[in-house]
Amino acid sequence: MTPTVTTSITEDVFQRALTGEVFIMRCTDLSADVAQVVRWRIARIFTKITSIPSSAEDITAKTASVRPDVIEKVNRRLRISFSRWPISAKYFATLISDTCAKSKLIQRFRYPILIPPSVDPVEWIEFSPPHKDSWYGYPKETVNLWLACSSAKEAGLQIFLNSIDTVMRFKTGLGKNAGVYGTLEEPKVCDQFPPMKCTPETGEVLIFCTDALHSSLPNTGLQTRIAIDYRVIDRRVASKRSQWNNGVGRFFLPVTTVLRCPPILESILLSDNPVSRRITQFY
Ligand SMILES: [Fe+2]
Repeated sequence: MTPTVTTSITEDVFQRALTGEVFIMRCTDLSADVAQVVRWRIARIFTKITSIPSSAEDITAKTASVRPDVIEKVNRRLRISFSRWPISAKYFATLISDTCAKSKLIQRFRYPILIPPSVDPVEWIEFSPPHKDSWYGYPKETVNLWLACSSAKEAGLQIFLNSIDTVMRFKTGLGKNAGVYGTLEEPKVCDQFPPMKCTPETGEVLIFCTDALHSSLPNTGLQTRIAIDYRVIDRRVASKRSQWNNGVGRFFLPVTTVLRCPPILESILLSDNPVSRRITQFY
């Protein structure tokens, strides 16, 4: 089983994703450029923290990326760097077709997720066990867009098919990663859903429902895996949910607004700071 190939997020693709279908967008020049810029910026952060010269092609175990304390520092810097100079929300917005874009909101701020080589996957920060993003508040009618910024060697994620709409008990607060993602109370539950293993190449984008159970595949490569994900939701769904209605300006912006943003306004609107949160309440 493999993801369905698509070249754009149309209303049809969006709705089918909500029913559990997984899509992949093949690499384009633009997505390759965005992935490369993300890698360059992370390489610079690595270099600053470790004083070990690094390049976008060489974010390896040797650059100390496997040390959890280093990864924590890198993640802190990443958050700051990507909130000051967001580059990718607009890119993700361009993936959505014009007609579909009119009715959609897009998450306005994310920073990349790093998964170091998995010597002991359980211990690695950001290694994510099977979970649903809907567990941490996103309406299940949300669609995830996941851009691979590493090659398939570093693996990707597996999406458990037919897991949408199935209520599963989960717990949080156990271990470094469980606190972020939550873990299944009964891990065996995922055995009943066939896993689709997705290992996209740099610049490819996976599209899947927020309510689909998914997990990282262990990174058995030598390099740190880098991915960045955004979410898209229909305006009508967002406006029905009080927490998302109140938080629309905070978490999501109309795709059309993001596409229209000139660079300076974009950096104000999309960055994650108190001022921008106040401003974006009006959008
Ligand atoms: Fe997730």
